[in-house]
Amino acid sequence: MISVALAKGRLANESAELLEKCGVDASVVFSDTRKLVLESPDKKFSFFLVKPADVPTYVEYGIADLGIVGKDTLLEHEKDLYEMLDLKFEPCRLCVAGYPEKKELLTNPHLRVATKYVHTARKLYAERGEEVEIIPLNGSIELAPVTGLSDVIFDVVQTGGTLRANGLVVLEEVFDISARLVVNKVSLKTKAGEILPLIDKMREIVG
Ligand code: PRP
Repeated sequence: MISVALAKGRLANESAELLEKCGVDASVVFSDTRKLVLESPDKKFSFFLVKPADVPTYVEYGIADLGIVGKDTLLEHEKDLYEMLDLKFEPCRLCVAGYPEKKELLTNPHLRVATKYVHTARKLYAERGEEVEIIPLNGSIELAPVTGLSDVIFDVVQTGGTLRANGLVVLEEVFDISARLVVNKVSLKTKAGEILPLIDKMREIVG
């Protein structure tokens, strides 16, 4: 049996749709259930529905052979696994955003940056040799510059709707993000017969 960790929510559904196109019976993923371990009717696959940030952990430890998760999560939770394929769905960007009239803030040595991507932001500014104050938040990041908690935010932008609704703009695009297929390093060897053809099919479909 091949186990697959999926990020609960929209990403899980899109992941299951892709798996179905590859001939995997992932229909259980669409079922309205509180069960967290779902088995395909043919017992060839099991699916774990977990928080996005936990997908890399399940894959690193080999509890899941495969995982499908956003690149933003992989950047934030650097784990020992193989990132095999850009699946190209759920495209978005990791950006610095803020008020348009405050672009000069970007060079402020005491810039306050609110984000839920604390590790990624710290790494980014450290690589640039810029000292900034990172303010960790868990959600509704756009509220930080609106209320004066931070000067800018470092966050994912998908449609840009949340920024627009709050009078904010993208000041800098830093990373292109999309869903990625990740694979446990040992599983890739021990279950190569099942995993490699599946990766080939996925590659063919996503182009
Ligand atoms: C994410 C992100 C932005 C928003 C971007 O938040 O943090 O707030 O989506 O999407 P948009 O560009 O299409 O508006 P999410 O909806 O995951 O909720 P959160 O605020 O609780 O993190």
